[in-house]
Amino acid sequence: MKRREWIGTTNVNVPGATSITVASMKGGVGKTTVSSLLGLTLAQHRGDRVVALDANPDAGTLADRLLGVDVEGRRPTIRDLLNKRDAIEAGTQLNRFLGLAGRLAVLASEMDPAKSEMFNQSEYEAVACLIARFYDVLITDSGTGLVHSAMHGALNLTDGLVIVGAPTVDAANSAGRTLDWLTEHGFSELVSNAVVAISCDRGSPDVDRGRIHDHFASRCRAVVEIPADPHLSTGGQINLNALQQPTLDKALELSAHVAEGFHHHASSTLMKKAGLANGPPAGGFSDRLRSRCRGRPRPPPHSRAVRRCVLVPDHGEPRSGRAHRRHLPAGRRDARRARRHRSWRARLRPLRVL
Ligand SMILES: Nc1ncnc2c1ncn2[C@@H]1O[C@H](COP(=O)(O)OP(=O)(O)O)[C@@H](O)[C@H]1O
Ligand SMILES: [Mg+2]
Repeated sequence: MKRREWIGTTNVNVPGATSITVASMKGGVGKTTVSSLLGLTLAQHRGDRVVALDANPDAGTLADRLLGVDVEGRRPTIRDLLNKRDAIEAGTQLNRFLGLAGRLAVLASEMDPAKSEMFNQSEYEAVACLIARFYDVLITDSGTGLVHSAMHGALNLTDGLVIVGAPTVDAANSAGRTLDWLTEHGFSELVSNAVVAISCDRGSPDVDRGRIHDHFASRCRAVVEIPADPHLSTGGQINLNALQQPTLDKALELSAHVAEGFHHHASSTLMKKAGLANGPPAGGFSDRLRSRCRGRPRPPPHSRAVRRCVLVPDHGEPRSGRAHRRHLPAGRRDARRARRHRSWRARLRPLRVL
């Protein structure tokens, strides 16, 4: 029952593009793992477009965890996208720079640490605003430096925060200090609305996990403990099918808590910065779809029929016709079915590019 509720909450409508940043001042605590789980789960259960972006200035590992290791070094990176950003006018052009992990789009960071160190606030903002034109949910995995220029860009544009900690004294203190720093630097609203993910792949019987949980629960909106999982501990590519059920449940709970905050984002900072706050601009394919979708309830994800509704929103629900079919002779029924099939195919044809 709880699972069903979480799936329902995870699939809540976003009134425009929204940005979620996963952060913590401690390295190796589980930020990239949590970003990946969050991205994969949101993409799996939502009908819209979710993208995960690696803004780690120290050659992040998000793309490796989601797409596998790029042995040949041919994977497009955020730097390649930045170099071509002025030429991008359609979602299909943007997608050439993204990898796909299931339904989750992934933008890799620069693998040369010297180049990724140069990734700055205005560049992050340029990428995030470009993505906001074509995607609905942007998840940013960060490095440890809250004062790094790119991180400042992420914090300025973010609508929701996920803070990652672990049930150890140093990791819990570090997560607490992250919240203190954010509060002192004008992000107190983000802190009280944040979701804390406690990565339980390590711990000690001498550390009171309940007290850590209660501490963060008193400061933030929700706390979720991600259990240790043998598949995650390999540090390799994450495949949801290989995870244990408790890990999947916690990833879903985390996604539901994050999505619960989406309704605050009607006039999200990202939308304003991207110039989308007053409705989508003309141009992008996704923007046109979005304007056609406006005001219509979002259909649940996954089934092929429903995916068609997402792609072709202004055709309305396909009629099942079952009530009428019962009264029609077989010949007329088949002719009618063929007619309807032809008309659906004709309508879908211009949208094949997706
Ligand atoms: N829930 C978990 N279960 C098992 N191992 C985990 C879990 N979360 C993280 N790890 C391990 O911790 C390592 C570091 O995690 P990572 O997400 O890369 O941290 P960060 O991004 O904060 O540096 C991973 O390679 C993985 O082996
Ligand atoms: Mg990381």
